[in-house]
Amino acid sequence: MKIAVFSTCQYDKEFLEQYNTAHELTFFDYSLKLENIAITKGFDALCLFVNDKADAGILSALKENGVGLILLRCAGFNNVDIKKASELGIKILRVPAYSPEAVAEHAMAMILTLNRKTHKAYNRVREGNFSLEGLMGFNLHESKVALIGTGNIGTAFYKILKGFGCQIAAYDPYPNEALIADGLIYGTLEETLYDAEVVSLHCPLSAENHHMINASTLKLFQKGAMLINTSRGGLIATADVIAALKTGQLGYLGLDVYEQESNLFFHDLSGDIIQDDLISRLISFPNVLITSHQGFFTREAMQQIATITFGNADAFGSGGVLENEVKL
Ligand code: NAI
Repeated sequence: MKIAVFSTCQYDKEFLEQYNTAHELTFFDYSLKLENIAITKGFDALCLFVNDKADAGILSALKENGVGLILLRCAGFNNVDIKKASELGIKILRVPAYSPEAVAEHAMAMILTLNRKTHKAYNRVREGNFSLEGLMGFNLHESKVALIGTGNIGTAFYKILKGFGCQIAAYDPYPNEALIADGLIYGTLEETLYDAEVVSLHCPLSAENHHMINASTLKLFQKGAMLINTSRGGLIATADVIAALKTGQLGYLGLDVYEQESNLFFHDLSGDIIQDDLISRLISFPNVLITSHQGFFTREAMQQIATITFGNADAFGSGGVLENEVKL
């Protein structure tokens, strides 16, 4: 199969070439857009990542160009118009889980960095400053953590939190029976957020939960609480979060995702003037930690993404069962 791979970095090429099961791969380092759609002519499939948009206009153009398959090399599919793809008969296959532990461990790394300020201590000590002023944290042991979403990543994160001895409450419209049996208590979103010291988001972005963390839900958190988002930027109303950081209602913020990330993340913009004032404001806070969508980025996850992506392509090519199809 002829596959056009968009938004590729060197590490994508390395893993995709290593695990390729005899497909013809063409790599593009830029993302899929309507302006560059002509390039997709002659390909059977596209391989897309989190910030490649496949909206109705793009999907219609792909259909005209003869593309019948989109291989998402990620779990989330909020960037694809699934209804339109289904109408056009374009199959959408994804990688539903690739080392959920990778993202869960990154969420914990963000909590520990923000709490114990190891990033500041590292720089201080290198400058010969051995003072502890401003480095005080809090014990995670027995702290109240709200877990929003208990699927693959939420479950892996639950196990880590349990190891730290946290008091965990969860919200998920589809509670996990195994976690209930393990003692996890589910509530409504409001009950779960109420008085939480740490809130961590592990649910997919949908039309229903867009900006679920906003001025009114932020008020439910304990004053000075920590918010961690390793899921999707659109779950958070960024302007409301900035306002809460300014009043101190929010004490710490860890973001691995950002609503407008597609213009920023995965690129080296160190020589550019950042035009996005919201992210510039966020970066200016001493209690905000931003990483550029690297939660998934472990060796094990990259191997799994490549293996499952080619498994999906092979199943489509041979007319086999499409286990990882995204349907309405
Ligand atoms: P999953 O599909 O295994 O679990 C998602 C869970 O969220 C399900 O239990 C579902 O019932 C629940 N859910 C749905 N709507 C909800 C809502 N409004 N409130 C609370 N819970 C809700 O997905 P998985 O693998 O755990 O991934 C979760 C999200 O993490 C993905 O959708 C993606 O956005 C993000 N992700 C981020 C990565 C990163 O590198 N930062 C890498 C992979 C995924």
